[in-house]
Amino acid sequence: TVLVLDFGGQYNQLIARRVRECSVYCEVRPYTTPVAEIKAMAPIGIIFTGGPNSVYDPASPQADPEIFKLGIPILGICYGCQLIAHNLGGRVTAATADSAREYGKTETYFRTDCKLFKGLPAESVTWMSHGDYMEKVPEGFELVAHSDACPNVAICDERRGFYGVQFHPEVNHTVYGTAMLRNFLYEVCGAKGQWTMGDYKDVAIRQIREKVGDGKVLLALSGGVDSSVAAALIAEAVGNQLTCVFVDHGLMRLNEGDEVEEAFRKWDINFVRVNAEKLFLSKLAGVSEPERKRKIIGEEFIRVFEAEAKKIGQVDYLAQGTIYPDVIESGAGDAAVIKSHHNVGGLPDYVDFKEIIEPLRMLFKDEVRQLGRELGLPEYLVMRQPFPGPGLAIRCLGDVTKEKLDILRLADFIFRDEVAKAHLESAMSQYFAVLTNMRSVGVQGDGRTYDYTLALRSVTTTDFMTADWTRIPYDVLDRVSVRIVNEVPHINRIVYDITSKPPATIEWE
Ligand code: XMP
Repeated sequence: TVLVLDFGGQYNQLIARRVRECSVYCEVRPYTTPVAEIKAMAPIGIIFTGGPNSVYDPASPQADPEIFKLGIPILGICYGCQLIAHNLGGRVTAATADSAREYGKTETYFRTDCKLFKGLPAESVTWMSHGDYMEKVPEGFELVAHSDACPNVAICDERRGFYGVQFHPEVNHTVYGTAMLRNFLYEVCGAKGQWTMGDYKDVAIRQIREKVGDGKVLLALSGGVDSSVAAALIAEAVGNQLTCVFVDHGLMRLNEGDEVEEAFRKWDINFVRVNAEKLFLSKLAGVSEPERKRKIIGEEFIRVFEAEAKKIGQVDYLAQGTIYPDVIESGAGDAAVIKSHHNVGGLPDYVDFKEIIEPLRMLFKDEVRQLGRELGLPEYLVMRQPFPGPGLAIRCLGDVTKEKLDILRLADFIFRDEVAKAHLESAMSQYFAVLTNMRSVGVQGDGRTYDYTLALRSVTTTDFMTADWTRIPYDVLDRVSVRIVNEVPHINRIVYDITSKPPATIEWE
């Protein structure tokens, strides 16, 4: 085990992820974890994270000085580095002027005879974000890196295995950051590197069992990757103490509801599928304003879920598939509301439960998918592209009817099918069909038609905040178009959306 001691930094889970990427097990614990407990864990190394405070402020989070006597290697990052200096006889002060306060990408010079930088270039870019500065290096330590503005960028005492860096090796902008962490883990701590996602699964299951005991867990399953993997993990841990409520609002893609149900058949859990298509469609009848649609669906969803929860009575835990990027995003400031995204994650407080559990809170999306595979979820579920909570209702422009939804579902299926046959999925982050509310004149056989125009949309993006339209090869677009007009009634024209985000959004509503 490597212990990541959390001093309140922004990137702490990122540190944990990097350590996992090096195939080493790690746990993030609060800085208040008693030294006796740390000793009992017997970690092979400890990482102090960054944090927003100043070490010389008496109210700031401090390390127990005993921790330096355990004989365990320590790597301090940013605030963590300053903590080491502060505790072992160095001096940290507020950086005055531009001399040592640094922010952003910084050219940094290393001594590669230090184990931390072994085998790496003597000069490379690091990511800095600090307002304090290590004025005096503690006794027994050597200076092993500097930048143009700051003489004291990294320190080490190789005899005791203590290392400190002012920059953030866990952030991608630090070009050799992962390599430095790897050096700490392998060269300094002697890690073996045998940790896998399979091990992660086992530990997560054990932790859920310990926490839940013989309590009851309730989870709202949306059929998306996150809630499905969370459900599978909890199912594996506590079996039929778990109730999954899957509200099928009738706004899913073709066969999706059945696929989700099928994927969970192998676990002995209480799987409740609520077929609420009629209810949702009746509430949506005649409504064409996008935000109204979202609001109706969001509210109705909660109502249906609540009704099911009432039947079950009191539960001990409400489980959610929150993943790490959700945690970061929800901490972000108040950006303008472009669309009121509803997610089955944001559930009401009138469901009777004691505590929320979020077993994926530490994981990034690709790790969640990997965990899903380890749990034996089928590939189509694990690799599912993002799908909005309001489903096809916001891809069926104007008022939503069963007929329109069926047309859209089939066209969307053909699009996805052809993309799969052309093996283009990995180049397309999200792709789908949109049924526009526009009709136009066409000719089919010998007759005039007056039918719907379907739009195809595909974007390529990493963060979904900005996105580029995908350059799908013409022959693939052609096959999709020919098949849809032949196989789907009431579509006689197909257009491809060639706008990026911004100015367009990914969805049409
Ligand atoms: P936009 O259309 O805003 O979409 O560019 C960005 C990403 O968010 C998804 N999306 C939603 N997800 N509830 C959700 O859970 C919603 O109401 C919603 N609206 C958009 C969209 O599919 C894309 O991945």
